[in-house]
Formats: sequence, structure tokens, C-alpha cells
Amino acid sequence: MSLDIVILAAGQGTRMRSALPKVLHPVAGRSMLGHVIHSAKQLSPVGIHVVVGHGAELVRQSVAADDVSFAVQQRQLGTGHAVAQALPALAADTVLILYGDVPLIQVETLQRLLARVAAQRIALLTVELADPTGYGRIIRDEHGAVQAIVEQKDATNAQRLIREGNTGILAVPRSHLAKWLGQLSNDNAQGEYYLTDIIAMAVADGVEVATENPAQAAEVQGANDRRQLAELERAYQAREANRLMAEGATLRDPARFDVRGEVSVGRDVLIDINVILEGHVVIEDDVQIGPNCVIKDTTLKRGAVIKANSHLDGAVVGEGADAGPFARLRPGTVLGAGAHVGNFVELKNAQLGAGAKAGHLSYLGDADVGARTNIGAGTITCNYDGANKHRTVMGEDVFVGSNNALVAPVTLGSGATTAAGSTITDDVPEAQLAVARGRQRNISGWKRPVKTKKP
Ligand code: UD1
Ligand code: CA
Repeated sequence: MSLDIVILAAGQGTRMRSALPKVLHPVAGRSMLGHVIHSAKQLSPVGIHVVVGHGAELVRQSVAADDVSFAVQQRQLGTGHAVAQALPALAADTVLILYGDVPLIQVETLQRLLARVAAQRIALLTVELADPTGYGRIIRDEHGAVQAIVEQKDATNAQRLIREGNTGILAVPRSHLAKWLGQLSNDNAQGEYYLTDIIAMAVADGVEVATENPAQAAEVQGANDRRQLAELERAYQAREANRLMAEGATLRDPARFDVRGEVSVGRDVLIDINVILEGHVVIEDDVQIGPNCVIKDTTLKRGAVIKANSHLDGAVVGEGADAGPFARLRPGTVLGAGAHVGNFVELKNAQLGAGAKAGHLSYLGDADVGARTNIGAGTITCNYDGANKHRTVMGEDVFVGSNNALVAPVTLGSGATTAAGSTITDDVPEAQLAVARGRQRNISGWKRPVKTKKP
């Protein structure tokens, strides 16, 4: 079976009250449409076709990719009309239809649905709803065979009592779809070309309609306003939290934890409250993350400890290394095994060797720091001359005194020591002491100034 996927994303989303097209509103840091495309790709279709209309240019730009194509629906004349816009580009024998504003649909559910579609069979995803208001209702005959879908606005009172709703997601053989779309009319309560009318046409043509249900109702929930968007966000976060807990992470409070990207965790990981994980985050066994940390595109190796209120972006934290509280690790930071970064320390494009320490109030930018080297409190690498960046290189077992300014480019040889308060502008040879500050003078008999009295 070859597969084309059509994603409907032309609607305006008036109730979002937004300049941003509805399908571009994010759930967990990725646009709703982005989620749908991500899931679609995992089904290995021959084509992914997004039907765009409102904000078409912005939508295109936002999700552009080699394996995604677009069809424009100039006016939103209904879901059937929307699918018809993509029809000329379809080549596969099966067409799966998804909605750009239904982001949580699971690949497993779609695989189950696709297992049911055949040359003479439609596979329809339906859901039992406590309150089916607004949904198309699934009409079955006395044997339970699907006969039609009737939209809420066209339904009789008796039909409105039916609680089985149409999710809108379905898989259809393409040749039949092409024929039925050509037969749609807009003679209904909304004056729209309903995709759902193809179900009755299929039955008339002797094509069977099989149904499947999603594992969870949230999978087929759409977002029409920001409250529903927030519900989807919570549903997504609950699912991610459950997944990480199943893999061996303790979350101090799964409701106060957010993932906005792809996260993998090892065993016996401990994550305290209000932690945000963004981008691509790898967390190995026995890692501990304190409260209020933001961690993006970072790898935390086995046994690393990130203390409260730290901000990490593009960093690698080595085995058993620790950072924080209030540490800031910027892109290109690599902490070696057992390295230590304390409070109010900022690192950027800096490598700390194994066991190296920067305990307090420092900025280390464009620096190589050797193993076991100790950076005194208040040390700054002066890496920027106003035009260019320069590196600071330190060997192993260097001891940098407190409140040093290291004016790059500069090299401190292994075993070198610098005196507190030094401004280091020249290289320091191995094992030597550099003192680069004014000598202290004590002035005896010195008188403090006194206030002059006004006459
Ligand atoms: C549709 C279904 C209904 C189903 C419900 C589930 C039809 C006629 N009805 O109703 O049976 O229960 O979804 O949520 O299919 N869109 C376009 N172009 C259009 C119209 C819609 O791209 O001309 C897109 C929308 O952006 C949206 C999706 O199609 O992503 C569904 O459209 P919407 O108007 O929300 O359909 P409903 O009336 O909710
Ligand atoms: Ca809808």
C-alpha cells in the first residue's frame, strides 16, 4: 500500500483572536501543524500535502521542508473542497486525511487505522464522547454498519443523541475519493462541501466503512481557542511526564514540569519542580536536576547534578560534574568529569577539564581550562576587544587567585599561580607565580578630610 497524507490547515481560527494562523500556535514549543507533520513523516508516506488558506505564506514558511508540499484553498468552502485542492497532487493508492489543528494524534493510532483501509474499504477514526456537541455524528444501521455522517447543524434531534463522533481523520482509497469529491454538493445547513458526505456515497457504492478509536480522547482534540490550546498543552505534558517516569525518572511533581522538545532519560534520574527541558536533551542515569532550571540542547552525563535556578543551553555536563545554584552554561560549554561550577558563574564556549572548579561569580568565555585547575571567585576572561574574540588557555593544576582579569589571548602554563586581584596580560610560564597588581603602601600620619563649616 502506498500512502499520501493530506493535512487540512486552511481555516482561519477566528476564536484564537490572533494575527498568527491557528495551526501555527505552539503546543510544547512546536506549532500544532508541526506536530501533525512530525507524526505524518513517521508513517513514511510518498507525499505530505498541506492545504493552506488563511495566512498561507506564513504557514508555508513555517513548516517548509523537502518532503512537504502545499495546496492552496483560496476560499474555505468546506473540508471536502479543501481535500479536493490537494487531489491533483496525489499519486498513492491510499489517502490519509489529518487536521492541522489536531496535534496530539499518535502514530500508533494512525497505524491501526491504516491497517483497516483497503481498495474497497474506508477506515474512519471515531470517538465516543460524553458531550458530542459540534461533532459530526456516526449513523449506523441495525447491524452496526456505518451508513453516513451527519453534521451537528444538519442532524435531527434523534441523531444529536448519538454520542459517537467523527474525529475528521480517515483513510480512503484514492480512486474512490476522487470520484466522490467530484459529486459533493453544498446543499446543507452550512452551505459547505462536506468531506463527511463521502461516507454515504461509499455505502451506496458498496464500499465498506470500518472504524477505529484513538487510545485516548485527547489525541483527536482540536484547539479552536486559547483555552483549548492550554488543555492540549497539559495533555501533551502529562503524556511526556508519564513517559519519562516510565523510563526511570522521578518527577517531584509531574504537573510542574515541561518538555518542549525531545528528551531522553536514564534510570534513577531526579527532576525537581518547575524544570523546563527544551530542544534535544539527553539525561543519563543518576542525574539530579534542582528546581527552576531551564535546560536546552544539553547532555547531562551520568551522575551530573544541576542545582536550583540554573540555565543551560548547548552544554555538555560530564560524569559527576555539578553546576549551580544560579549557574549559566551557554553554547559550547563542556564540563569534564567531576568539574564544579558554582553560583553566578557564566560559561560560554568554555571547556573545564576533569575536576576543574569555578566556584563563584565568574565569567569564562572562549576558554580552555585544564584538569583540576581552580578559578578564584570573581575571575573574568576578557575575551572581547570590541572587535574580535580571543581565547584564554590554562593548563592543568593552575590556581587563579580571586578577582583576576585574564586579558585574552593569554596562556597560563600548567601549575601556574596568579595572585588575587591580578590583571594578567602576559602569558604565565608553567609553575610560576604571576603578581600583576599595584603594591600596597601604608601611609602613616594620614588625616581624613573633614567637612568645611559654612560661615
Ligand atoms: C469537522 C467535520 C466533523 C467532525 C469535526 C471534528 C466536516 C464537514 N465536518 O467539522 O464531522 O466531527 O470536524 O473536529 O468535515 N478546513 C479547511 N478548509 C475548509 C474547512 C475546514 O482547511 O474549507 C480545515 C480547518 O482548518 C480545520 C479542519 O479542516 O483544521 C476542520 O474544519 P472545521 O471547520 O473545524 O470542521 P468542523 O465543522 O469542526
Ligand atoms: Ca473543528
